[in-house]
Amino acid sequence: MKQIVILISGRGSNMQAIVDARIDGAQIAAVISNRPDAAGLAWAAAQGIPTVALDHKQYASREDFDAALQAAIDAFSPDLVVLAGFMRILTPAFTRQYAGRMLNIHPSLLPAFPGLHTHQRAIEAGCKLAGCTVHFVTAELDHGPIAAQAAVPVMGDDTAETLAARVIVEEHRLYPAVVRAFVEDRLQIDGLRVRVLP
Ligand code: GRF
Repeated sequence: MKQIVILISGRGSNMQAIVDARIDGAQIAAVISNRPDAAGLAWAAAQGIPTVALDHKQYASREDFDAALQAAIDAFSPDLVVLAGFMRILTPAFTRQYAGRMLNIHPSLLPAFPGLHTHQRAIEAGCKLAGCTVHFVTAELDHGPIAAQAAVPVMGDDTAETLAARVIVEEHRLYPAVVRAFVEDRLQIDGLRVRVLP
C-alpha cells in the first residue's frame, strides 16, 4: 500500500477529488495544512483522515517552517507527497527531500504563466486555450517535469472566475489520474519529460 500525504492551504477541492477517487493500492496517510482554518482540513478530518495544522506564521523563517513541515510529513513515511493548492514557496532543501515523489497542480498550461493570477493573465495575453498542469516539484517554482496537462477553451466573454470554473473541472479529473499513475509506477521521469506508461 503506497502512503500519500496531501498538503493544502484552502478549500481542498483537488484533495477531495483525490480522496474520492479511492485509488487502489494507495492510502491517504494524512492531510497537512499551513493554515489551521483551511476548509479542506475539516473535510478530511470528517472522513477519518489524520490531519495536521502547521501554522507558518509561528515560524521565524521559511527554513524553520519547511524543516517542521518535513518532520510532520516524514512521520507518515509517505511514498508520495501531493501539493493540492498548497500556497507556499518551498525551500530547495525541502524540494530535494521529495525529488521524484512530490507532485503539484498548477492552473495554467506550463511553462506559460507560472506563479499567481494565471487565469487573468491568460485572458489578458489573448490565449485561446488555458488549462492545468500536474508536474513533479523541483526547486524552481512551477517548473518541474510535466506529468499531464488538460486544456480548455478561453471564451470571448470569460472573466478570471468563469475561466477558473472551467479549468477546475479538468483539475479534478487530471490530478487523481496522475496520482493513480504514480501509485501504479507508470510515471518515468527523463529530464523535464515524463513518460506515462499505459
Ligand atoms: C487550484 O486551482 C490549483 O490548481 C491551485 O490552487 C487551487 C487550489 O484549489 N494550485 P483547491 O484548494 O484544490 O480547491
